[in-house]
Amino acid sequence: MRRKIVAGNWKMNKNLQEGIALAKELNEMLAIDKPNCGVVICTPFIHLASVTPVVDNAIIGVGAENCADKVSGAYTGEVSAEMVASTGAQYVILGHSERRAYYHETVEILAEKVKLALANGLRPIFCIGEVLEEREAGKQNEVVEAQLASVFNLSAEDFGKIILAYEPVWAIGTGKTATPEQAQEIHAHIRSLIAGKYGKEVADNTSILYGGSCKPSNAKELFAKPDVDGGLIGGAALKAADFKGIIDAFK
Ligand code: 13P
Repeated sequence: MRRKIVAGNWKMNKNLQEGIALAKELNEMLAIDKPNCGVVICTPFIHLASVTPVVDNAIIGVGAENCADKVSGAYTGEVSAEMVASTGAQYVILGHSERRAYYHETVEILAEKVKLALANGLRPIFCIGEVLEEREAGKQNEVVEAQLASVFNLSAEDFGKIILAYEPVWAIGTGKTATPEQAQEIHAHIRSLIAGKYGKEVADNTSILYGGSCKPSNAKELFAKPDVDGGLIGGAALKAADFKGIIDAFK
């Protein structure tokens, strides 16, 4: 059966020293009070090599927030999937709405990134989700279906390594969370799309996380829904106590 997962996305926050301190603090908390779910922290690239050795890998996985769509070479400023994996990181967030909106990442570019991540042994946390106008026009189902094209070209075996995160853009950093019912409805739809493509067993085994203003006070209600398998957490992942509060929703 699919894993329950709480993943943090630090985004462009924390300098190196602050990041190491946050990872250590979380590691200490979870060593004392073991989580009932998988825990992942996704950090800026420069933190990865320093954060992986300070966390107990049996409890906390580490991931990047992006990787390049090219293997290697003259791509100034880019960081390859192989480089990410060489730090000891095991995950990479791909397709985050901020990458799609601000850095023009398309379905095709993201398909390349997913392929390279998998080729280097990284598990993509692949994000999908509609903007407010699309939700208001009732188009959320078709939007997520179109975004899934980046991962629906994979073999069933490779698709089995993908973690999905549904993040309605209108709920990210806005304090406006999707209701548990809204989350359940679209998560169930996403799972039905997976079942249509790869069959029921693969669909049942896919973890689909919810992201968007998730906090300790609303996590339990969201995660109680049958198709919500955990969360991808932004702001509340920047404080160990808040992130732990969300992890504890599975207790
Ligand atoms: P917030 O939790 O800050 O709304 O961010 C969600 C997110 O974008 C996680 O990837």
